[in-house]
Amino acid sequence: MRSTSSTPPWDVHRLPRADGGVFLVTGGNAGIGYFVAEQLSATGAAVVLGSRSPAKAEAAMASIRARVAGARVRAVRMDLADLSSLETTVEALGVERLDAVVLNAGVALDHPPRRATADGHELMFGTNHLGHFALTQRLMPLLSAAPTARIVTMGSFAAKSERLDLDDLQSRKDYRPKRTYGRSKLAQMYFGVELDRRLRVAGSRVVSVVAHPGGALDSLTPSRPPLHVRTPGARLKAAPAALVVQGKDAGAWPAVRAVLDPAVRGGSLWGPSFFGLRGEPRGEPVWSHLADTSIAARLWVASCGLTGLDLDAVLA
Ligand SMILES: NC(=O)c1ccc[n+]([C@@H]2O[C@H](COP(=O)([O-])OP(=O)(O)OC[C@H]3O[C@@H](n4cnc5c(N)ncnc54)[C@H](OP(=O)(O)O)[C@@H]3O)[C@@H](O)[C@H]2O)c1
Repeated sequence: MRSTSSTPPWDVHRLPRADGGVFLVTGGNAGIGYFVAEQLSATGAAVVLGSRSPAKAEAAMASIRARVAGARVRAVRMDLADLSSLETTVEALGVERLDAVVLNAGVALDHPPRRATADGHELMFGTNHLGHFALTQRLMPLLSAAPTARIVTMGSFAAKSERLDLDDLQSRKDYRPKRTYGRSKLAQMYFGVELDRRLRVAGSRVVSVVAHPGGALDSLTPSRPPLHVRTPGARLKAAPAALVVQGKDAGAWPAVRAVLDPAVRGGSLWGPSFFGLRGEPRGEPVWSHLADTSIAARLWVASCGLTGLDLDAVLA
């Protein structure tokens, strides 16, 4: 039977307006986060870049302003690897409400040795998961002050084949960088889904959604000098990869849709349409291992303990 819905299909090049909205993008100074910020800026919303480097944030803001007429973009200093700094970061936002946060920033190490955050946590788990867990706790009053706010967690296809080791979340016993990265992304995705469950129980208007960018290569990404410059040689060399993966501009699409599309529901998963690796953003079934509520609940409790923050206390 044909759908009788009058909702037009999502068009990544014709985004709905979001004038008056305020969005925060962590790691908005580079890569996918930059393109999330650029695309959200074009909706008329105010966009705040969370960045650990003021110089990189300046370059990103200049690039957005050069491309989006009237862009309302600014930046706050943010280091997710230093949990004690995040309270100051949130104070520096200087807003009364937040309509969405995209938990995008991420670190991926390819080689040993195992490294640690300022708080002594394994660097990838500590930054990607615990940093965003702690930031969400700090942001919750601002999100709850918005009529309907969204928390969009950036997951990864790499997490699909991983499983958490709840007895070794910090990879102390057996550190393999790629696996630890995949597990840190899986922890984030469990967090995004569990957060929505808890928000519903608490009766909150805030929703939590998980997105992933597929495969997104710098070599397939359009230039945004001085942030990123793609040479003709790199472009030619990467051409075959474009059959399977995409640039970071397109990698931003699922998260942007998760922020803006009125049809997006809490607890849902959004990714690229072509085998989850490239293409138009669309909803996909929540992966079966992500639906395991007992693992998600144990990770939640562990995350409260490791950050020393009671996120449940601020959800309502
Ligand atoms: N690219 C892919 O194919 C792919 C696939 C799956 C998932 N992802 C996810 O998508 C997100 C963005 O990836 P990307 O490819 O755009 O990476 P990227 O180009 O390396 O950008 C990462 C961003 O995170 C920031 N960041 C790193 N550590 C931080 C910290 N301690 N505090 C604050 N910000 C920090 C970086 O800041 P600096 O500029 O200061 O380093 C940068 O802005 C990540 O969460 C990643 O796991 C990417």
